[in-house]
Amino acid sequence: MWRNIIFICVGILALILINEFLQGILRQKDRQIIFKQAQKRAKELKRPLLVYGDPYYGKGSRFYNMFMDGYGCGDETVDLTGSPECKNGVKSDMLKHLKTKKSNSQVIFVSCVLEYLDDIEEVFKEMIRVAGGVENIFVVTVSELTLAAYLYQEDNYGAKNLIYAPPKFKDLTYKKL
Ligand SMILES: C[S@@+](CC[C@H](N)C(=O)[O-])C[C@H]1O[C@@H](n2cnc3c(N)ncnc32)[C@H](O)[C@@H]1O
Repeated sequence: MWRNIIFICVGILALILINEFLQGILRQKDRQIIFKQAQKRAKELKRPLLVYGDPYYGKGSRFYNMFMDGYGCGDETVDLTGSPECKNGVKSDMLKHLKTKKSNSQVIFVSCVLEYLDDIEEVFKEMIRVAGGVENIFVVTVSELTLAAYLYQEDNYGAKNLIYAPPKFKDLTYKKL
């Protein structure tokens, strides 16, 4: 009886870990594909590409970057870390940085930053203003089907929101955790 219970628990734990790993690979694939889409849009519109999220920070990126390409730097690459490996890295809070930009002037790519912000509604408003519409916004999100979406914690930030955003979703929406 106990052997069966232990066997079932170990099986469930293994399934959860396999799901986290596979979801991580899908997220890294999204980073490649969605970043390319954002670069293409920026080129078409002859606009700067604003990247939010240090491409070389975060447990997930550090791990998956070892064996799979992720995304690269933009014309500006903004993060609280300063994105030191990008030659045009900017050390700033996302909302503060968006507020310095003119309306309808940039293409925006974000990877796994919106999940950790308190002022999410204001950030959404500013993203739409700066990009001039959701069609110029490209976001990689943490899937709600992962434990990381609920439990992720690093330095002084942790999971706060589930994000639904273009190009996978038509609009920018969120659920507070
Ligand atoms: C989970 S990591 C993601 C790292 C990388 N962008 C990726 O996709 O793997 C979350 C990132 O959000 C950044 N971050 C958290 N709060 C921020 C804020 N208010 N403004 C700008 N960046 C922020 C952190 O410094 C960190 O690099």
